Amino acid sequence: MAKIETAFTEMFGVDYPIIGAPMFLVSYEELTVAVSEAGGLGAFPLPNYRTADDLRAALKNIRNRTDKPIGVNIHLSGKFPWKEQLALCLDAGVKFFLTSLGDPRLIIDDVHASGGRVFADIISLEQALKARDRGVDGLIAVASDAGGHCGRVPTLILVPYFKSHVGLPVVAAGGISTGAQMAAAIAVGACAVVVGTRLIATDESKAVQAYKDAVVAAGPDDIVCTDKITDNPASWLAHSIKDFQKRPELGSKRWLDLWSAGKSVAQTEEIKPAGAVISEMVEDYRRTCEELAQTISAGRHSQSQ
Ligand SMILES: Cc1cc2nc3c(=O)[nH]c(=O)nc-3n(C[C@H](O)[C@H](O)[C@H](O)COP(=O)(O)O)c2cc1C
Repeated sequence: MAKIETAFTEMFGVDYPIIGAPMFLVSYEELTVAVSEAGGLGAFPLPNYRTADDLRAALKNIRNRTDKPIGVNIHLSGKFPWKEQLALCLDAGVKFFLTSLGDPRLIIDDVHASGGRVFADIISLEQALKARDRGVDGLIAVASDAGGHCGRVPTLILVPYFKSHVGLPVVAAGGISTGAQMAAAIAVGACAVVVGTRLIATDESKAVQAYKDAVVAAGPDDIVCTDKITDNPASWLAHSIKDFQKRPELGSKRWLDLWSAGKSVAQTEEIKPAGAVISEMVEDYRRTCEELAQTISAGRHSQSQ
């Protein structure tokens, strides 16, 4: 299939502007490799690996299976050994670093020196301007429909808002699981999209079978956004948190029973390989762009009659 070219694909040398979301307890080596091999940019969050040895082994496993670009979500809040994690990732040739909590300046020089780029998860203009002043290369616009920690503003409003006020490349995150949705995000100024919820229901995701099945069965009304689980607003499958009493400790197995997902459950209808999700998105994107182009020629035709 022909490539889709944007500032993002040029920056990272990938075929398609699709990032496989780094998802806590869901994205590990298998999903990362599958997305990257399918032409997207596979990513995983570093907190999925408890020790440096676990992370080293995971990176080695990925590198044995693909030499394509990959990304990570690095936490710079101080709760994790980010210096050691960063060194391991740079050694393994990781080119895309997504920062959520903490100051991106801690890693920017080292990442740039190895030819990589740093993007920051952002939900507000205030955060976006601060991240720009700190030197990030791009923004991930985390919108209200996203799984995981979610924003407050819908994707189609947030992306052009950041684009016009900040002037950095903007990646859309939230509610994108089809090629038509990707076309909409790119039409309003995104250079790429992050796909999370749709990839939970894939063969390569580490979600347990009941979680995958619940994502397939759910509709958008089954998703609730609450800050009671992590202290920050996040989207959850409502029935999985109905008995929630107390926030589990970091590393507790109880996190496995709290199932995060965004409103893209609406378009998640079956469990399939991640590579098929990516190639169907690309095909749907192409079809959508062709259909949109036809609406213009049809207009011209009728005007000339
Ligand atoms: C189960 C789950 C876990 C997530 N964990 C993380 C994480 O650890 N780090 C991170 O940067 N984003 C995390 N996210 C957010 C995603 O990176 C991404 O922004 C979001 O899934 C995009 O929206 P979508 O779910 O509508 O596709 C998570 C999302 C989900 C659904």
